[in-house]
Amino acid sequence: MSAQNLTQLLDKMWTDYTAINPLAQKIFDTLTNEGEVLTNDHIALRTFNHPRISVDVLARPFLAWGYQEKGEYQFTEKKLFAKHYEHTDPTMPKIFISELKLEEFSPDLRKIVDELVAQIPEGVELSNDFTSMGRPWNVSSETYDALLKESDYAAWVAAFGYRPNHFTVFINDLKKYSDIKDLNQFLKDKGFKLNSSGGEIKGSPEVLLEQSSTLANNIEVEFSDTKRVIPACYYEFAKRYSLPDGKLYQGFVAASADKIFESTSRGQ
Ligand code: NI
Repeated sequence: MSAQNLTQLLDKMWTDYTAINPLAQKIFDTLTNEGEVLTNDHIALRTFNHPRISVDVLARPFLAWGYQEKGEYQFTEKKLFAKHYEHTDPTMPKIFISELKLEEFSPDLRKIVDELVAQIPEGVELSNDFTSMGRPWNVSSETYDALLKESDYAAWVAAFGYRPNHFTVFINDLKKYSDIKDLNQFLKDKGFKLNSSGGEIKGSPEVLLEQSSTLANNIEVEFSDTKRVIPACYYEFAKRYSLPDGKLYQGFVAASADKIFESTSRGQ
């Protein structure tokens, strides 16, 4: 069933996300059992800067449902551009959408992406729930490997398509674990593995945002030629600090996110 409104779309996204990342549901339940009430800080979506499926195209339904464009970010190392969107209702999660800058990659990679995008039936990318539809193209494991040589991110989008890459627990709203170190320790004690690339905590109070995340879980994906087990989605944790005017910082920090994108890299 297609999503008729924002709540339906967010529910659909969570259902799909926890189906392929059951660890997120497990962490959600573990914290809930501790008496915590979880708020979702943001949902992250990934795409390419191809005109049919760019950040601006993916953002359309969110803008129609009350979101506004806020920050813009450049991730030099990962060759990404991103924007974040906030709803007029501050209890709604922020939407963070990044796109791979195709012009910074090889003609081979660009050709592969063009061929994937050409498989999307015309207009499907404009539907309200495109960002929860999953993979709108067929792709072989060979193509996945070819993309992986140049960009983990490109390979991830090719394999998983349009669905949240991660949801994010808003640490400030936790009672017992409102310090990111305490939360990380609690999760590790419960047996969850965190991404330690660049240190477990990315960011600092000085940049007004601290984040950590689980490692992406590996799942079996059906390619056009074979099935393969590859990294899928992760769960993120964000602690926000106040600006001099007393308002909580709502943006993102490019230097930290360059590292957190590695949560879906192989071999970690
Ligand atoms: Ni994030």
